[in-house]
Amino acid sequence: MKKLALYLIAIAMMTACNNAEPQPDESAHSEKKWWKEAIIYQIYPRSFKDTNGDGIGDLRGIIEELDYIQSLGVTAVWLNPIYSSPNDDNGYDVSDYRNIMDDFGTMEDFDQMLSGMHERGIKLIMDIVVNHSSDEHEWFKQSRSSRDNPYRDYYHWWPAEKGKPNYRYSLFDERGDAWKYDTLTNAYYLHYFSQKQPDLNWSNPKVRQEVNEIMKYWAEKGVDGFRLDAFQFAAKDTTYPAFPEGFEKNFIDYYAMQDGLNDYLRGMYDEVFSKYDVMSVAEGAGRNLQEAHELVDEDRQELNMAYAFEGVDIAKYEGYELSKLKEIFSKWDSAFAEKGWLSIFLANHDQARLVSRFGSDEPAFREASAKMLNTFILSMRGTPYCYYGDELGMTNIGFTSIEQYKDIAAINGYKKAKAEGKDMDYFLKKLSFESRDNGRTPMQWNGDKNAGFSEADPWLPVNNNHLEINVEAQERDPESILNHFRNLTKLRKEWPVLVYGQYEIVEKEHPQVYAYARKYNDQQLLIVHNFSKEEAKFALPENINLGEILINNYPDLKMEKDIFSLRPYQSVIMVKE
Ligand code: GLC
Ligand code: CA
Repeated sequence: MKKLALYLIAIAMMTACNNAEPQPDESAHSEKKWWKEAIIYQIYPRSFKDTNGDGIGDLRGIIEELDYIQSLGVTAVWLNPIYSSPNDDNGYDVSDYRNIMDDFGTMEDFDQMLSGMHERGIKLIMDIVVNHSSDEHEWFKQSRSSRDNPYRDYYHWWPAEKGKPNYRYSLFDERGDAWKYDTLTNAYYLHYFSQKQPDLNWSNPKVRQEVNEIMKYWAEKGVDGFRLDAFQFAAKDTTYPAFPEGFEKNFIDYYAMQDGLNDYLRGMYDEVFSKYDVMSVAEGAGRNLQEAHELVDEDRQELNMAYAFEGVDIAKYEGYELSKLKEIFSKWDSAFAEKGWLSIFLANHDQARLVSRFGSDEPAFREASAKMLNTFILSMRGTPYCYYGDELGMTNIGFTSIEQYKDIAAINGYKKAKAEGKDMDYFLKKLSFESRDNGRTPMQWNGDKNAGFSEADPWLPVNNNHLEINVEAQERDPESILNHFRNLTKLRKEWPVLVYGQYEIVEKEHPQVYAYARKYNDQQLLIVHNFSKEEAKFALPENINLGEILINNYPDLKMEKDIFSLRPYQSVIMVKE
């Protein structure tokens, strides 16, 4: 009680001081912004909730669950693409940027969803997919129709009479070839992703203007931010020079952050981001820390934040090293300690499930490790992104045969591996662990048929463990992963140190434990996670006096003479005095 009173006084003092002079920690870096304080919940609309019985999630499903979303304590939703699309890549192939995909509903549904979110204090971040469009977009139809069509230069074309263009690697092509020959005009077009996702030509100012207009259209409707899909690949050298043999093994080095990219972003800032109260985040953060910095340095006026893959990428079928995770997160944090802002995430729609990759989905450890991972994401500096279902500890579905997959990356990746004579047993095992479809199975609302997601057979099967892992069951249990998640979002809002505080790793070499301190004005915390299945001894470093435990994923914390015995995946946030 006494502590609480002191804490309230401290808060009151801080607020009072904020209105007067800047506090010591109030560098430009910790300037308060809603998007720094945001807790973002990512919804994959196809898999969230189906209301019209076609087995596909829709906007009305999101509307029905707005109270649930609000109850999580999240403050913004990032929605994967909901625009018209032939769904070669589940909406990442847009055929009309100003329309809603038929599967998902209508513009009226969208408007209602947006105002429903705003009424609940939840902001909406839209996914802007403009490295490429669908080949069914009107621009592309025009572009391919003749060489002198006004839209020809909206895309990248190579006339076949000049021979084959220099090799470009495609992520989703079954032959890995990013040039597709089109008989109609005897030319090749470029597609870094699937054949149905032709890359837009950003060196054409008309393309840039079109995209600005699209973003303005949504900003006028009142959306609160944009996530720029695959945008680091948008700039290209349109002489298409040869790349060294084997470049595709490190294709990011050749594709990301090419000349012009930062100028394109600056153009968006001038025309769109600076004119509305919107946040901006890019997928991908360049090839090194300096490039990442340049994307988000406030002075350059480009983006608010980017998200880097280095951390999320380390968890493979073969496992991952905790030391690597610590190293990466610490490195990124220190690179942004003075300037710029980061996104924190360990899962999204392009990854398998959080708990299966970074924790353990074995029954003995699933709950503890899911709670620990959520604690980690919500206690780091940077804006946290939480993926739907991770608040329940949803797990990988683990398909065993290729027929079960729906993701183009899996299907075409399989064809390519087979043609190359790869070991297909190993390929399938690895895919079963790493495939994006793992992270796209329907939301588990209850233990009924189809997990309460749909009356019909869902587009992707529901995980059988929905009988046990579901919202309804976890609502009833005060100790559930879901309620733990709610406690975490509440803490993050009550303790500005969790958002703005400096980060410092503690006992860096510990083989099982990832511990760090956070500090902001007079708020100080110690955060300790046991990332292992075994008990871990953790000696409290000297000069640390601990106060209240703010959150713990076990009922107690064993400690003897300044040595903690942390249970498997135990995760605790404590006040430092
Ligand atoms: C991004 C998206 C991914 C999509 C790809 C092509 O990486 O997150 O889902 O397949 O871009 O648009
Ligand atoms: Ca539906």
